[in-house]
Amino acid sequence: YINSLNMSSQVFFIAPFNLGTSLPFACFLQINCVTFPHPDTMQEQQLLKPTEWSYCDYFWADKKDPQGNNTVSGFEILLQKQLKGKQMQKEMAEFVRERIKIEEEYAKNLSKLSQNSLAAQEEGTLGEAWAQLKKSLADEAEVHLKFSSKLQSEVEKPLLNFRENFKKDMKKYDHHIADLRKQLASRYTAVEKARKALTERQKDLEMKTQQLEIKLSNKAEEEIKKARRKSTQAGDDLMRCVDLYNQAQSKWFEEMVTSTLELERLEVERVEMIRQHLCQYTQLRHETDMFNQSTIDPVDQLLQKVEPAKDRELWVQEHKTGDIRPVDMEI
Ligand SMILES: *[C@@H]1O[C@H](CO)[C@@H](O)[C@H](O)[C@H]1NC(C)=O
Ligand SMILES: *[C@@H]1O[C@H](CO)[C@@H](O)[C@H](O)[C@H]1NC(C)=O
Ligand SMILES: *[C@@H]1O[C@H](CO)[C@@H](O)[C@H](O)[C@H]1NC(C)=O
Repeated sequence: YINSLNMSSQVFFIAPFNLGTSLPFACFLQINCVTFPHPDTMQEQQLLKPTEWSYCDYFWADKKDPQGNNTVSGFEILLQKQLKGKQMQKEMAEFVRERIKIEEEYAKNLSKLSQNSLAAQEEGTLGEAWAQLKKSLADEAEVHLKFSSKLQSEVEKPLLNFRENFKKDMKKYDHHIADLRKQLASRYTAVEKARKALTERQKDLEMKTQQLEIKLSNKAEEEIKKARRKSTQAGDDLMRCVDLYNQAQSKWFEEMVTSTLELERLEVERVEMIRQHLCQYTQLRHETDMFNQSTIDPVDQLLQKVEPAKDRELWVQEHKTGDIRPVDMEI
């Protein structure tokens, strides 16, 4: 069994579950106090949610911790996935924060440059186009600031604030399932103890029966009756312990199904939430491009109106010094 599961005997306590002659030989495999059907005699089990790859179907066994000797329950692996998901969500929010910083700095730089007085003296239609180009930097800065503030309120904040008490909630699940496993383990121990007690009683009875064959006496018969009674009692006791064990396993099973389904639902919700906010990011980014473009359009319009002839006319009119041309000297 050990080899076929590729597990170490130090880690897993495995015992055949044989209740003795009073019950048919039961073929089970017990790993870490959980009872599984034995692979050799196992009947086909239907998945609880076939075709769904549901959490509730694939995390029943414990697993060896990759770095050491500890075992991790299937449920703990699901919890680790949840905590990792929470961490990823937090890191995405941090990443968006960095993106926002770039936008803010870029906007600040654009705005500063737009205030720059270089070539402020340019004149005419070219001067107008130049002034509009400088103004467009301020408009563009505005676009980037709006983008950054929307990124903050519509992407970063929601990512940051999603599920604030998540770790606490996961701890609750962890403790709940771990408690049920502990109960299962203690009832398993009780079964083992009751089984040993029964074996002792049966041995005792057998011994006394042999003694009676050697030497018949009333006293010996009484002793046998007593031993038989005790043996029956030990059998009943074992049955009771097995019953309690099965109840505990059943309870654990039910809670595992409901809890793993809940974790599954939470993960679907998380992925959907993040997807939705990343879509919001691309949407805002497209809008920024469009608004950004609209800051450039007036510059283009003015550039088309730039006319060297017109500028010359304006300039000449303002600065002309006289249109009377010199003539030849005559004597
Ligand atoms: C695993 O357990 C064995 C014996 O109990 C010990 O010698 C070994 O150092 C342990 N390994 C780790 C990684 O803890
Ligand atoms: C803003 O300008 C500073 C220097 O003036 C520069 O170091 C920085 O890289 C610029 N940032 C962006 C986002 O353009
Ligand atoms: C905004 O437009 C300018 C010029 O058209 C371009 O260089 C810049 O990359 C654009 N910025 C964004 C965020 O689209």
